[in-house]
Amino acid sequence: MRNICHISDVHFGPPHLSALSSGVLELISQRQPDLVVISGDLTQRAKPHQFRQARAFVDGIKVPTLTVPGNHDVPLYRVWERFLDPYGAYKRNFSPELEPLFEDEELLVVGINTAHGWTFKDGRVLLSRLQEVAELFEKAPAELFKVVVAHHHIIPPPWFGHQQVMTNAREAMDLFTSVGVDLILSGHLHQAFIGNSEEFYPKGRPPVVVLHSGTTTSNRGRAGERDKNTCNWIEVDRDSMVVSHYRWEPDWKRFAEHSRHWYPRHTRKHYTLEGLGTDPPTTQGLGG
Ligand SMILES: [Fe+2]
Ligand SMILES: [Fe+2]
Repeated sequence: MRNICHISDVHFGPPHLSALSSGVLELISQRQPDLVVISGDLTQRAKPHQFRQARAFVDGIKVPTLTVPGNHDVPLYRVWERFLDPYGAYKRNFSPELEPLFEDEELLVVGINTAHGWTFKDGRVLLSRLQEVAELFEKAPAELFKVVVAHHHIIPPPWFGHQQVMTNAREAMDLFTSVGVDLILSGHLHQAFIGNSEEFYPKGRPPVVVLHSGTTTSNRGRAGERDKNTCNWIEVDRDSMVVSHYRWEPDWKRFAEHSRHWYPRHTRKHYTLEGLGTDPPTTQGLGG
């Protein structure tokens, strides 16, 4: 059995709410997950002191962590830095690895960087990275629980109007459903959502569960989650996965379980991968 705590959009800087970062550290300390996933937007404006605060927060987590950068972790207004060294602040103050991997006897968790500059405001996954990740999953033992972590969303929640999903989302979902990915964890929308690939992509393969976390520790909650803060808890064993949606309860001053969702773990058929095309050339420093 494995437990994963999924938090997102902690946004160190003016929107950050320190009572909530203390609250989530307390939840983690009490429940001791095997892994904490942070799906991007560690900071509000990618400033060194905001990364130092984010680093201190993550250092307070005494179990393994896996983080990916979000669009707010790339400088927005410091134009030269954005062009020449977009991930410099993230790497210097946080982690040199933009696409980390966590693996043990039961889990394979792979991070994907989707924060590729301002021409891709809804994020983008590089086709070359997709192919790499798909091959990694295809080669992994079938019994491993396979997770993808990306800041931007691959499927839109139903109430999200005309907004786009990340570039190459369809290709990503096509590959992930082919190679037996069990779960996709994202953030960015500041609004929680639990869905699956079947609702948006062609049926015929076992669905991949898709989980968006709201903002866990900032005042940037949107729509139905305005002034609300959420995170997710995933408990997985050989036969099933249970997703618990946690919400900050101001009266109790702690994160508490708000809903629970159960999924069977299918025996997945592995398909042969077909090669993808190649990515077009990208602006220096902003592409892959
Ligand atoms: Fe965010
Ligand atoms: Fe974001």
